[in-house]
Amino acid sequence: MSSEPKFIVLLGPPGAGKGTQAALLQETLGVPHVASGDLFREHLLNKTKFGRQVVTYIERGELVPDDLTTAMVMERLSQSDCQHGALLDGFPRTIGQAMALDQALSERGQRICRVLSIVVPDEVLVERLSGRRVCRSCGAVYHVIFNPPHQDGRCDRCGGELYQRDDDRPGTVRYRLKVYWEQTSPLIEYYKQRGMLTEINGDQPIEKVEEELKAAVTCDGRG
Ligand code: AP5
Repeated sequence: MSSEPKFIVLLGPPGAGKGTQAALLQETLGVPHVASGDLFREHLLNKTKFGRQVVTYIERGELVPDDLTTAMVMERLSQSDCQHGALLDGFPRTIGQAMALDQALSERGQRICRVLSIVVPDEVLVERLSGRRVCRSCGAVYHVIFNPPHQDGRCDRCGGELYQRDDDRPGTVRYRLKVYWEQTSPLIEYYKQRGMLTEINGDQPIEKVEEELKAAVTCDGRG
């Protein structure tokens, strides 16, 4: 693989498996996993001023306004561990965010090298999100049926307590899917037109999706 910085975007609806796959891929790629949702949840947990500004959007399953989101992610990307790239999960989520990202990277002489779009039917997504459990300490993601922890309610990795996200309640999940189709799915065409998009079938076992994603990751400049 070339030494060009690896900025890779994982695109897909809520529950497509972006977080699950990013955790697996970051080691192979040697770049950090930067998830806008995790950054927001960190602010909520630490009850920061910024967290108070965004909490209502997140609880309702709405998108946080572009200016706030973009500033938060760019601040993260300016840290030294992102100098050689990042695996972006959940950002960009609007055309405005995509343009802001292109602009910010080009000012650094960098660019996105590939966008991997994980495709999963809506009915599967609802089932996945309602059974998702997340570790309160290390953020590891499980599913009560598809990817259960060895011990009920406890994280395999660190022994932390597993919890259900507030926005994984059925009503909010359906609203998040609607928001995805209205505001985020236009990015599929945006990146397709630029020759940057690879679609991956996310409706198969986690290891199989991982295999396809690894095969699709390319930063060799061939688009
Ligand atoms: P965010 O945290 O980004 O949520 P999301 O995009 O809705 O994505 P999820 O974390 O729900 O799903 P995922 O694709 O990571 O799936 P996972 O791997 O966990 O955003 C939350 C909120 O923050 C937003 O609603 C918004 O308010 C705000 N926000 C964030 N970014 C923003 C932005 N850029 N702009 C504006 N607002 C923003 O998998 C799901 C479940 O399925 C797990 O239980 C997992 O174990 C299981 N699973 C995964 N893969 C498989 C498989 N292949 N087979 C079976 N089960 C599987």
